[in-house]
Amino acid sequence: MDNFTLRPAQAADFPAIRRLIRVVRINPTGLDWRRFIVAEAGGQFAGCAQLKPHGDGSLELASLAVEERFRGQGLARCLLEALLSGSPRPLYLTCRAGLGVFYQKFGFRALPPPEMPPYFRRLNVLAGLMMKFPGVEEGLLVMRL
Ligand SMILES: CC(C)(COP(=O)(O)OP(=O)(O)OC[C@H]1O[C@@H](n2cnc3c(N)ncnc32)[C@H](O)[C@@H]1OP(=O)(O)O)[C@@H](O)C(=O)NCCC(=O)NCCS
Repeated sequence: MDNFTLRPAQAADFPAIRRLIRVVRINPTGLDWRRFIVAEAGGQFAGCAQLKPHGDGSLELASLAVEERFRGQGLARCLLEALLSGSPRPLYLTCRAGLGVFYQKFGFRALPPPEMPPYFRRLNVLAGLMMKFPGVEEGLLVMRL
């Protein structure tokens, strides 16, 4: 896709970021717009991602989402590559199991619980409990780059 641009988010992007994150039903907490980059296509908000720091010192690649009408055109790849190029390592993320293959393409590897930082270990335990509820069929992966 060649008619889009990436830029740091501004305060005015926050409503679009929050709406998209809600629509795609990923973690709606910690959406500080100052940490985000956004993609625009034809002047329209098209997607976003952020680097989110945690109290245990770990850094998470989070809130990656692309508006449905702009998917399948390499936008997530561009958002990821832009964040990855300027970020320290290690970098962690969580995703539903089905997206593990997607992140493997960028070098992320799934972690066993003993290798997870405390924040992600807690999240992993919570996700394990959620799996006991009817209708929750897909597990959570914690990955590291
Ligand atoms: C996942 C998501 C961000 C992908 O956005 P996108 O702009 O369509 O992705 P891209 O076009 O950049 O695809 C990049 C690569 O990932 C692959 N990919 C995209 N979506 C995928 C999926 N759901 N499962 C597996 N692979 C996927 C593509 O085939 C492509 O591979 P290639 O470069 O080898 O051809 C988008 O579907 C989305 O917003 N989903 C809802 C929110 C979400 O689940 N976010 C992830 C939170 S962990």
